[in-house]
Amino acid sequence: MLNIALPKGRLGEKVYKKLEESGYNCGDIYGDSRKLIFTNDEIGVSYFLVKPSDVAIYVELGAADIGVVGKDILLESSPDVYELLDLGFGKCRMAVAAKNGYVEDLSRPLRIATKFVNIAKNYFDTKNRETEIIKLYGSIELAPILGISDVIVDIVETGTTLRENDLSVIEEIVPISARLIANKSSYKFKQSQIDKIVEGLRQQD
Ligand code: PRP
Repeated sequence: MLNIALPKGRLGEKVYKKLEESGYNCGDIYGDSRKLIFTNDEIGVSYFLVKPSDVAIYVELGAADIGVVGKDILLESSPDVYELLDLGFGKCRMAVAAKNGYVEDLSRPLRIATKFVNIAKNYFDTKNRETEIIKLYGSIELAPILGISDVIVDIVETGTTLRENDLSVIEEIVPISARLIANKSSYKFKQSQIDKIVEGLRQQD
């Protein structure tokens, strides 16, 4: 049995469609059901529906052999897994943003609000800029508006959230997209099964 961790939601739906088209069908995963595990014994595949930010943990710990996860999560948590394929969708960018007209005060540490504490810290460390990082879990854009941070480090996809809150990108950190990852020992012992899936997904590009 090959166990695959899929992120719940839009990204997962896209991947599942592609897997279905390559013959890895597990029924109506994205229907109304609250079930979290879907198995197809005939083709020997099980899907687990997990929170997008948890996919890498399930794969690293070997509960899932492979999974699909955003590059943002990989950069933030550096899991000990193989990154097999850039799936070319779920595209966005990690960026630094601030209120329109923001001018940096270089005489004090930069106050950054973000979900991505490690990405933010590493980025500003390489620039030798001292920082104070405020970890938030959502609606990051509020922080500079309410004055608790100077800037944010966050994902920008369409740019709508920034625009509608009078913020704009001041620096781009890295482009992001969905990646197929594998558990290291699964890749050793189930390589032919995994390679077949990689090939199927690659052909769907
Ligand atoms: C993400 C991100 C931005 C927004 C960017 O938030 O944190 O807020 O999407 O997308 P856009 O450029 O297309 O507007 P998410 O929707 O995950 O919600 P969150 O505020 O709970 O993090």
